[in-house]
This record gives sequence, C-alpha cells and structure tokens, in this order.
Amino acid sequence: MRKPFMTGNWKMNKTVGEGAELVKALADMVWGVEDVTIAVCPPFTALQPIGQALRNTNIALGAQGMFWKTEGAYTGEVSPGMLKDVGCTYVILGHSERRGRFGVPDKDVTEELITVFGDNDATVNKKALFALDQGLKPIVCCGELLSERQAGNTDAVVVSQIKAALQGITAEQMADVTLAYEPVWAIGTGEVCEADEADRVCGVVRSTVVELYGDCVAQATIIQYGGSVKPDNIAGLIAKENIDGGLVGGASLKAADFAALVKAASSRA
Ligand code: PGA
Repeated sequence: MRKPFMTGNWKMNKTVGEGAELVKALADMVWGVEDVTIAVCPPFTALQPIGQALRNTNIALGAQGMFWKTEGAYTGEVSPGMLKDVGCTYVILGHSERRGRFGVPDKDVTEELITVFGDNDATVNKKALFALDQGLKPIVCCGELLSERQAGNTDAVVVSQIKAALQGITAEQMADVTLAYEPVWAIGTGEVCEADEADRVCGVVRSTVVELYGDCVAQATIIQYGGSVKPDNIAGLIAKENIDGGLVGGASLKAADFAALVKAASSRA
C-alpha cells in the first residue's frame, strides 16, 4: 500500500509572519493524521522560520527549487545542503512554472523572457540526481500544455519528461522520489483535469516507471496529481488507483482547505 502524500506548494506567496500563522493553524487541524505524508513548500525566505514552526508537528518542510552544486559562485541559487540546514526534507523540481510553462499565460513573460525561468529536462535531471546525492527527496513534476494535449501529445510529453528527469537514478534511489503529474492547463486555472483522465495519465507515468525499473519499484512509487486540487474535487481524485496524493497550489494557502485535502487523503488510506 502506498501512503498518500499531500504537498502544499505555496509558490510566491506568504511572508514569514503569514506563513507562520498558516502552519500554526494547519498543524492543529491535521494533528494526529499519521496515514498521510504531509509537507509544505514555502518560498526560500520563509523556510527557516517555518521549519522551526513545524518542529514537533506531523508536517514536513520542502523547498520549491535548488541548484546542482554544493556551493560557489552561483548568484541567486540555493544548494541542497542549505535547504537541509534549515530543515527541508523535500524539494520540488521541474515544476512547469520553473520551466516557463504557465497555466495562466502572463503577457509580461514573452518568449524572450521565458528563459529566465531556466529549467528544462536536462537541468531537472541534474537537480534530481544531486538532490538524491545530498539526501533531499525530490518531487519531480511533469505535464503537458493545452496545445500539446490538443495535438494528442499528452502521453508522449509526460513519458519523455519522466524518462529525462530520471536518467541515472537507481532503483534504490526511487524510494526517495515522488512524481507529480500536473497538466499545465489545469494549474491555477480552476480547471481540474477530470479524475478518470488524471488517473489514466498517472497510470502512464507509472507504466514508464515499470519500463525503467520494473513492477516492484513502480508499485511503490508515489505519484501525485496537481492542478486546481480543491476540497470539492479531492474525493474523486484520491479514490483513483494511480493517484497517491496531490501537489497543491492555491488550496494550500488556506489552512482549512489544505487540512480538508489531507483528511480526504487520510480517509482513502
Ligand atoms: P494549483 O497549483 O493547485 O494552484 O492549480 C498546483 C501546482 O502548481 O502545484
């Protein structure tokens, strides 16, 4: 049995004070839930104090990104060691918003500017390998754009992103890897992927893990769905065979909403 995993991705939201308030309320609401892995991923600026606030709770800390070096002249980057130093267990890698692929197009982010977001299959792979090497657990994201879905390329996009991200990762290391299927068109748009289809694509992700590592590893791999997961659609999603939890943006910013998602995952466990 796979333990459900609910991760809150705060993105570029919450000051230290706001984040502390949120996790204090959340910790009270989810206290005692032991059959779900729970994590929150605040922005870098809030990691250290939120990590402190999460001590003696059942909520783990994660970061929203990292660089693939231990230290050095990499202005603006953060190393896995630094993340572990402030209490991180997890790190989100290859999120579509880090690849410059947005669910809600931003007119300020032109084709020319999109490179500032930097990530591609190669960097996601480097980061995943280095995270594991340094003892951080990566949550590796994949997902298709609306145009890719409309062209019938959903499965091909997802399979190629997963294969690229996992290159060189061993079967043993897969125990520390979470995969997240996040259709880009469903992120922050309020448009959730229908549960059957989300389950089907998560199944495609699992089949890819079978192909790479065999059935045993694939059956143990946690695969999250992400994209407008809310208290009113979680039940349908979490009931599905291949969906082991959620990577949640908007609904993780309110304690009551995120707690409701955790409890829905707990009732499936
Ligand atoms: P959303 O974001 O829940 O706000 O759609 C999900 C994500 O990007 O992880």
